[in-house]
Amino acid sequence: MLAVVFERKGGPEVLEPKEVPEPSPVEGQELVRVEAVGVNYRDVYEREGRSYGSAPPAIIGAEGAGVIERTGERVAWSHVPASYAQWVAADRDALVRVPDGLSSELAAAALLQGMTAHYLVTDSYPIEHGDWVLVHAAAGGVGLLLTQLAKLRGGRVIATTSTEEKSVLARGAGADEVIGYDGFAARVRELTGGEGVAAVYDGIGKTTFLEGLRALRPTGRMILYGAASGQPDPLPFASLAPAGSLYVQRPTLQTYTRTPELLRTRASALFALIQDGKLDVRIGARYPLAEARAAHEDLEARRTTGKLLLLPA
Ligand SMILES: NC(=O)c1ccc[n+]([C@@H]2O[C@H](COP(=O)([O-])OP(=O)(O)OC[C@H]3O[C@@H](n4cnc5c(N)ncnc54)[C@H](OP(=O)(O)O)[C@@H]3O)[C@@H](O)[C@H]2O)c1
Repeated sequence: MLAVVFERKGGPEVLEPKEVPEPSPVEGQELVRVEAVGVNYRDVYEREGRSYGSAPPAIIGAEGAGVIERTGERVAWSHVPASYAQWVAADRDALVRVPDGLSSELAAAALLQGMTAHYLVTDSYPIEHGDWVLVHAAAGGVGLLLTQLAKLRGGRVIATTSTEEKSVLARGAGADEVIGYDGFAARVRELTGGEGVAAVYDGIGKTTFLEGLRALRPTGRMILYGAASGQPDPLPFASLAPAGSLYVQRPTLQTYTRTPELLRTRASALFALIQDGKLDVRIGARYPLAEARAAHEDLEARRTTGKLLLLPA
């Protein structure tokens, strides 16, 4: 079968399409024919060897949707190693059923980033009606979903984006205000009448984290859920007191989907929002599986919007 392998840590150039043997499922696993693979920033971390996923040599990736060979059932997954492939051997507990009427492409596009956006607005900081929140990289995969879910909870969203095209998308997702990154904390204070936001949702990290703390209202929550620009500098705990008794969380989807029940409950809630027409999943680009390298180059160069998919067929 065709799979995308990385034999050493490094940049997008270490990703190589290769013919490899089909995986053999062991007890508790299913052999799944992959119909769509989800590209996520975690794949970049995995490729770079930032303590994520598999160590090289390995097939990269974690998310996808397809058909169980034995039963014909359509399923999706967010945490199955070696997902950049035509076939995966997946733990049964890691699979969620895809409802009729939802395509495999949409399921693969929505699951990982959608469940992330979902726990961010319901658990990391449960947004209340009228709350101001700041969503960084709002035209990205997580960002567009997060903006829509924040609005569904009655929040008011200030979004950051880097280009005019991305700001139009963020507005389309419901953002009340869209700003650039330069001096964003001061701008957030102006827009919120000096008060600051209840929560900052930050998947960027190094270049935004410390300034983001200055955008929070007293007792506000900094939710650092990713590090697309690198890990932030260390934060002295004592600085949180004079800044307004702030909270900081570093969450991961794995915690919020750590049992099959938690995974399936959150996936069902997400799929229902999509099927009810309340949540729009934007597929920004599709690439043949063999062109995974181009997808990574585009993602890291900030050229992408919404979700990137790799198609094995
Ligand atoms: N903790 C969790 O559970 C969890 C789960 C899923 C994803 N995540 C995190 O969520 C974040 C977003 O992931 P995603 O897959 O949806 O990616 P994405 O948001 O589609 O892409 C990253 C975006 O970040 C912005 N960015 C700002 N500075 C950047 C830099 N130096 N390098 C690259 N991008 C930069 C860019 O948007 P602009 O050009 O508009 O700035 C870029 O498009 C990542 O940090 C990821 O690790 C966390």
